[in-house]
Amino acid sequence: MSGPEVRKVGRYEIIAKVGQGAMGVVYRAQDPTIRRVVALKVLPADPVTSMEQTATQARSSAGFFEREAQAAGALLHPNIVTLYDAGRDGAWYYLAMEFVEGGTFAAEIARAGKVVADRAVDVVAVVADALDFAHERGVIHRDIKPANLMILPDQTVKVADFGIARLSSATSTMTGDMMVGTPHYMSPEQVRGGKIDGRSDLFSLGVVLYEALTGRKPFQAETLAAVLNSIMNSNPPAAHEIDATIPAPLSAIVAKAMSREPGQRYARGKELASELRRYRNAGRSEATSVEAALSRPPPAAKKSSWLAVATGVLAVLLIGGTVALRGRSAVSSTAVGYLEFVSEPVGAEIFLDGNVVGRTPYTSEVTAGKHEIEFRKEGFYPAMQSTNVEANKRITIELPMLAR
Ligand SMILES: Nc1ncnc2c1ncn2[C@@H]1O[C@H](COP(=O)(O)OP(=O)(O)OP(=O)(O)O)[C@@H](O)[C@H]1O
Ligand SMILES: [Mg+2]
Repeated sequence: MSGPEVRKVGRYEIIAKVGQGAMGVVYRAQDPTIRRVVALKVLPADPVTSMEQTATQARSSAGFFEREAQAAGALLHPNIVTLYDAGRDGAWYYLAMEFVEGGTFAAEIARAGKVVADRAVDVVAVVADALDFAHERGVIHRDIKPANLMILPDQTVKVADFGIARLSSATSTMTGDMMVGTPHYMSPEQVRGGKIDGRSDLFSLGVVLYEALTGRKPFQAETLAAVLNSIMNSNPPAAHEIDATIPAPLSAIVAKAMSREPGQRYARGKELASELRRYRNAGRSEATSVEAALSRPPPAAKKSSWLAVATGVLAVLLIGGTVALRGRSAVSSTAVGYLEFVSEPVGAEIFLDGNVVGRTPYTSEVTAGKHEIEFRKEGFYPAMQSTNVEANKRITIELPMLAR
């Protein structure tokens, strides 16, 4: 799938492509009427028209699109990316949203492999409150995952893509054997295609917290069918069984959020948020010395070094106010920058200086200096580029993939 060739979608003037998901492309664009910069998500409307006679079409009709967009657009909350406008331009649906500078929680998890427990708890508590706000207004997110949690430079958390999973449902499920989008955060009732309510989002948020804490997705398998089966039937190990440094009470909160039966989960986002905050406050009074050590900025020269904490079980790295756990290559006082890898189509294997680091789209923290990048994907010619990364700078590497 490729984006539209035009420089204008609806009345919005495209400035640059900023990202790509499974269902569409996100552009930085400008609303010429009020000269406001927006994030414009463009999705193909074609599958809708080509499925004219199907039940999917009934759900994805223009009326359905508008109703869903109206519900999502009514959500005005400091921790929700505001939807400004939605419409159709020829073969494309577009959604104009608040443009958010910064990165995603997915990139933050990917950078370090996982996230320090207190940081993960803080992010998830904010999201749980934002979900409560939306659920109270009858809007279910349906696609809670780290890539939809935006982290602003000042560390504000904003939930993106409210209700959009449903708008793009005609293209978001399956093409042949291939799942488009990620099923790993889906609740069992979503997998079954049953009726869902806000507790489905809370399950997905539990999966996000599990992954942020342990660095592992609880329902991970080789094939789509196996992942879905795992969500429905498997009991993943508790978070503290994977990583003994995760406190058991926190592990219990994660397990409750991820209960297979909706009735066993937190009934509301507010409940999950206050449980998480209670856990945080309890930790504060019990471990004041640890907290103090964590909140003290490290000496400048040691910015990137492991900081051993009194307990001896936790090591943290403080980067520009963000607490992040680094699994590897924490070299003392090394300047770092970021490389964001993008390809069309997505899913190309990324070789960074000869080593596989992941698949596009992906963001990686790298040492400042020269790096060699290569994308490989079956059916396409390899694409290469070398680049010079400056400290604290982010470079997007977008290489054209030519089909063989
Ligand atoms: N409101 C926004 N402001 C700025 N950048 C955004 C905004 N929304 C999305 N992006 C950027 O665009 C990228 C792609 O977003 P998109 O929602 O299309 O995909 P996704 O959430 O990663 O996956 P999926 O298609 O499965 O939902 C994001 O990773 C982010 O970098
Ligand atoms: Mg998204």
